[in-house]
Amino acid sequence: MAAASEAAVAGPQFVVGPGEMRRELLAARAAGRRIGFVPTMGALHAGHVSLIDRAAAECDDVAVSVFVNPTQFGPEEDFARYPRNLEADLARLAGHGVRWVFAPSVEAVYPQAHATRIVVAGPALGFEGDLRPGHFTGVATVVCWLFQAVPAHAAYFGAKDWQQTRVVSRMVADLGLPVEVIVCPTEREPDGLALSSRNTYLSPADRQRAVALSQALAEAAGLWLTGAEITPIESAMRATMESAGIGVDYAAVVDSESLGPVTTGAAVALVAGRLGTTRLIDNRLLPPRGAISR
Ligand code: PAF
Repeated sequence: MAAASEAAVAGPQFVVGPGEMRRELLAARAAGRRIGFVPTMGALHAGHVSLIDRAAAECDDVAVSVFVNPTQFGPEEDFARYPRNLEADLARLAGHGVRWVFAPSVEAVYPQAHATRIVVAGPALGFEGDLRPGHFTGVATVVCWLFQAVPAHAAYFGAKDWQQTRVVSRMVADLGLPVEVIVCPTEREPDGLALSSRNTYLSPADRQRAVALSQALAEAAGLWLTGAEITPIESAMRATMESAGIGVDYAAVVDSESLGPVTTGAAVALVAGRLGTTRLIDNRLLPPRGAISR
């Protein structure tokens, strides 16, 4: 890797215009620097910082985008109340070697005449795709747009949004986009709760109950190792969440790549549940284990 840039040492350069962002990136690439990109919606927490640190360790320069993407929220979802605090985000980033913070306006990403969407099928179907119609179209569209504005060598995503990682990887493969998608482990609170910007919505009582999501996943992993069949594993996950008062949207064990039925490859346990007005998701990868029955 090349030496750390002066800009990264002095603090990130704040960029709003996609044209300027792209010129900066192309100039850095032409100078032989490897660029890592961490797309975010802000409300940065230790999970985002772990992505940034990984990008900084593997690349010469790091770009972080902060954009709360309206098209990935349904009409009844939390777009309006999604936490936005750019100042706090910039403070979080300090000292992590970020060279650029890219914060485009909604008008730049979605100009008045825009008429294009990226629709992914395959891994976008089912689970979040069913419960949040249009969500992954919004994600794929903005991520594709961001990849044009921020032409990095590698983009870093958290495994917490497992289905999102499969959707983005599918889009990148299908469209031949020249970027490597790197999926990084989920960061957790000491009691196991996966870090999420939405955890800030939880009341103290719901915060305590929320640990049942990761407990359900740990239970699934334990049962999986004993060779248990999938249906009882799914029932056990559901029971654990329900007994904590969580409204279960799904508790499933599926193929970790296609998110279809498990065959002989690696599997993933996926959970989603509602606590009050907050919806949380989590997942856990399960190792391949030969022929599987339900
Ligand atoms: O995971 C997120 O924060 C968002 O879905 C992403 C990838 C930044 C697109 O808006």
